[in-house]
Order: sequence, then C-alpha cells, then structure tokens
Amino acid sequence: MADRTPVLIDCDTGIDDAMALLFMLAQDRYDVVGITSVFGNNTAAQCAINSLRVLELVGRTDIPVAVGAEQPLVGEVTYLATHVHGSDGLGDAGLPVDVTASVDARDAVQLIDDLSREHAGRLRILAVAPLTNLAHALEAIPDLTQRIHDVVIMGGAADAPGNQSPAAEANIIHDPEAAQAVLSADWGLTLVPLDVTMREVLEESDRTALFDAATPVTEFVARATDFYFGGYGSDVYARRASPAHDALAAAILTGDIVPTVFPEIDVTVDCTDGPGRGSTICDTRGRYRGFEGTAAGRVRVALQTDGGFPRVLVQTLVDYGSRLSR
Ligand code: BDR
Ligand code: CA
Repeated sequence: MADRTPVLIDCDTGIDDAMALLFMLAQDRYDVVGITSVFGNNTAAQCAINSLRVLELVGRTDIPVAVGAEQPLVGEVTYLATHVHGSDGLGDAGLPVDVTASVDARDAVQLIDDLSREHAGRLRILAVAPLTNLAHALEAIPDLTQRIHDVVIMGGAADAPGNQSPAAEANIIHDPEAAQAVLSADWGLTLVPLDVTMREVLEESDRTALFDAATPVTEFVARATDFYFGGYGSDVYARRASPAHDALAAAILTGDIVPTVFPEIDVTVDCTDGPGRGSTICDTRGRYRGFEGTAAGRVRVALQTDGGFPRVLVQTLVDYGSRLSR
C-alpha cells in the first residue's frame, strides 16, 4: 500500500516497547520503516537485539534496526531497568536470544537522517525511551524538524506522581537535557505521560485472553506480561496487573485511542540537580475552564483516556497473531 504512513520507532526495547512494536507492526495503515535503540530498560546494544528478536517473531527483519546512544547528554547512565523488564529486557519470556538478522551498519542518527530524507514531511516518530537519540539528531541535522511530520513521546508526568522519583518518569529522568531539547524543538509534539499510561491497566483476564489465542505473538506477550505483573503488581497496584505505557503511546499515534482530555499546553523539563530533576512541568492551570485559552501551548498532552485501551491492545494482538499464523 503506497499511502501507508511511515513511522520510525525510537525505543529501549523492554516489555512494553515490544508491545508497542507489535501494535504498530499490526497496523495496515502504518509502515514501520526503521527502529532505533537507546539505553534505558537495557543497554542500547541489547535493546537493538531485543527489537530484532521481536521482528524475527513476526518475520519482519527487513526493517532496519540501528543502535543509538548508550549514555545521556550529561553525566552517565545511572541504572538500567532490568528489575522491571527482566535480565534479557523482554521479561525472560523465552523469546530466542540468538537472532539471525544483524543490526544495521548505520547508527541511530544516520538512520534518522536517511529515513527523514526519504520520507520528508511524512515521517512520524514514536519515541518511547530516553530522548537522547532525537536530541543528537536535532544537533546533527539542522533541518530535521522540517522533515518530520510529528513526534509522539511516551514520557513524563503532568499531574501524576513519577515512577523513578516522586516527581519524574523514567524516560525523562534518564536524560532530562535531551528531553528538554526535544520538547522545545519546533515540530509537532504529543506527550503521553504516566497520567494516562498508569490508568490503562492490563489484568489477568487480558493475559488469559492472550494465552487462549495460542499464537506465538500472543503467547510471547502473555509470558512477558507475567514478568511485568510481578514488578508492578506488588509495588504499584497491590494486585497482579501492569500498564502498557509505550503501546498506549502507539495507539494514540494511530488514533485508535483518542484522549478525552488532550490540551495543547507548555511543557518544561526540570534540568536542575534537585529533587525535581527530570520532572515535566506541564501547564495544566487551564483545567478549570476546560483548557480553553491555552492555545499558546506547543505540546499536546494526553491527560485522560477512557480506560478501554487494554481491550484494544489485546484484540489487535490476537488478530495480528492469528493473521500471521494462517
Ligand atoms: C517508560 O519507562 C520504560 O521502562 C518503559 O518502557 C516506558 O517507556 C515508562 O516510564
Ligand atoms: Ca520504553
């Protein structure tokens, strides 16, 4: 289909990144033209391998996967989220660790340069990891913002608590300076923060539905989710359940999920060294007047969704898995 919309996914492939990849790969109207990796849930090198493992599962190793930044713009990486995503980054769910495909010879910035030139004005970016690669790309490619249609980011917390510190979300606190550069660049921006991702919750019944579909895709997601439920279950929800952060951002990109509160507002990242470091200061003061009158805002921030996303995700994966298994 010639008119499919090209999408580049910038990710630190852990469990919910894998869900986002599968959700996007399942779409007829979207064409995943490249994947770039960055440190976060694991090293950038391992996250690229994890993307290849997911691509092998669905027979799509034709998509280039390029390795990106292993360190933030300032300082050094302080932790990798193996406690949340498993030692292999994909929930130790049995996906083969040996991949036959190789990572692309180009690095992440080069792949962004090439794809943004090839799909100038049309390329959409789904960024679901620390924003270091995009910050490097903005620096290296002066006209990048004009080549990109828009950027949809999973990250931050508007009014919700953080998940890596009381104030900050993981993707942003990993590299606040990069996030500030990306969020202040002159391109279309959507932010999908914890305010919505933490409220779209996968339950045991969703895992059961995935297992029952009995396809390699759904069984992998069900097993990986089991690991995810472990971490989130006791620490956050006090029951076996988990969000699917990055996949929700993917569904907001495609329009499958339309946030019910979705204002364009100002967002500034705290780059100081205090307890607020990495927090996203979102101007939500317009809420009492329905957000009318804050048109000067540049970032469309998803503040509320209706809770229906887990069912959309499960159905998409079941349909995709069945299609591939035919
Ligand atoms: C974000 O952090 C990562 O661990 C997840 O993949 C997601 O992108 C949630 O805070
Ligand atoms: Ca991620």
